[in-house]
Amino acid sequence: MKKKLSFEITIYDDLNELTPADKVLMTQAVAARKNAYAPYSKFSVGAAVSMANGEVVIGSNQENASYPSGLCAERVAIFHAGATFPGVAVKTVAITATSDTYQVTVPAAPCGNCRQAMFEYEFKQKEPIRLLLMGETGTIIECGAVADILPLGFNSTFLE
Ligand code: THU
Repeated sequence: MKKKLSFEITIYDDLNELTPADKVLMTQAVAARKNAYAPYSKFSVGAAVSMANGEVVIGSNQENASYPSGLCAERVAIFHAGATFPGVAVKTVAITATSDTYQVTVPAAPCGNCRQAMFEYEFKQKEPIRLLLMGETGTIIECGAVADILPLGFNSTFLE
């Protein structure tokens, strides 16, 4: 029988509409953005990962003169979390972006590689990882799971 799948996102007008805990996490992502090393793109991204043990781990994009050697904020953050607290589930990742050259008024969009990297942890822990996406100003998007923004994602079951 034919089936259709869909997913939902929630859009908030601004930070004040978030729960207090989400607002704090996004504020930590904004602070993390300041640690970005983005001399080439001038586009700074910050990510804050909240963990099931109550810890928060941050990351920011780290660029390189050899461009592909750099890494996005989301992967710096999620790998930092995995390396610091192995086996602890990730609850939420807040992501925010800013630019030296224009005002980012739309929510940050994790690149495909970062979606795949976060999906690995989500699949491993068998619990959804919530995402909060924000630019510098403007609306904030909440996604209930990484899988929602990586439909038909590749995971370890294909390798069995
Ligand atoms: N970037 C991120 O940190 N996260 C993303 O999901 C998209 C792009 C960074 C990588 C690079 O340092 C800069 O933004 C421009 O692509």
